[in-house]
Amino acid sequence: MKRIEPELAVLLDPDWASGSLVDDVRRGLTRHPRTLPPRWLYDDHGSALFDQITRQPEYYPFNAERAILEAHADEIVAASGATALVELGSGTSEKTRLLLDAFTRTGQLTRFSPVDVSEGTLRDAAAQIADAYPGLEVVGVVGDFTLHLSHLPEGGRRMVAFLGGTIGNLYLEERSAFLSILADLLEPGDSLLLGTDLVKSTDRLIAAYHDEAGVTEDFIRNSLTVINRELGADFDQSAFTYIPFWDAHMERIDMRLRSEVPQRVTVPGADLFLDLDVGEEIRVEISTKFRISKVAAELEAAGLVVGRVWTDEPGDFALTLATKP
Ligand code: SAH
Ligand code: AVI
Repeated sequence: MKRIEPELAVLLDPDWASGSLVDDVRRGLTRHPRTLPPRWLYDDHGSALFDQITRQPEYYPFNAERAILEAHADEIVAASGATALVELGSGTSEKTRLLLDAFTRTGQLTRFSPVDVSEGTLRDAAAQIADAYPGLEVVGVVGDFTLHLSHLPEGGRRMVAFLGGTIGNLYLEERSAFLSILADLLEPGDSLLLGTDLVKSTDRLIAAYHDEAGVTEDFIRNSLTVINRELGADFDQSAFTYIPFWDAHMERIDMRLRSEVPQRVTVPGADLFLDLDVGEEIRVEISTKFRISKVAAELEAAGLVVGRVWTDEPGDFALTLATKP
């Protein structure tokens, strides 16, 4: 079969990085705790750092989810009955190839649509998938899955894959809004394949987000570098310490940068200065961990019907397939 040139729809304005970052910085960094949305972690450097994180020995979620796909991709594909695959927050789509391989075995897939805010990563991934799967139509979308769900490619019976546990990076309110909007947009028979990292021992959780090599710390610190570059801010990395901790009440890892000195940070591009006290923290990212019953309840509350749940052997990670009735 012939290679089909991938198409790419770019839904983000060229000035999105600075424009929308201004809003997020003004809103997030002036409230307490000071917070940033995680999409700003994924400029080209951040995407490369995430890729490195997945290769750290302490970071089990990537391999755990891959093990599930290795063992069960054929069942997942059969259960979905899908003819089109959409992937949200697709990144390099490395694990997704296991689904694409299973789809190739059944011959039922006609279109693959990876969706990501990181344009460079998406372009590379779309080209590589088009090379590896001749005959497959690849229609990438450079967009934000919290804003652009209504622009997902339509047609065929769709399975939307949201892998990696990325849903855990959304705050509770964002998560329920995201699931409801997505469920409303799906057609009857379409499905969602949702990857969720499961609650486990605090030691393992903390280690996964505080790896020996310091790659996760670099990834979280990169958010300050992005604001410095895009908005001309003067965040000084040496004045901050990386603090990851387990919030047992919310069942999430909370990744913060703590100011070690009293300091004024200026953010000219957002017409803003921030006075940080010693010990004051910026919450850069959360990573919520789930229990299978909670995932099912949230999917059902959004209007989806939970079909099957697959976990890896040790029970570290879950993939849930839920269908729009
Ligand atoms: N799915 C891959 C990558 C996970 S990393 C895996 O399982 O390994 C999270 C990905 O989501 C990154 O590629 C990042 O660029 C993307 N992302 C983060 N926030 C996003 C948003 N709001 N909209 C679209 N993509 C987003
Ligand atoms: C993309 N997401 C699922 C990762 C996670 O595990 O929450 C992001 C990450 N942040 C630090 N390490 C990995």
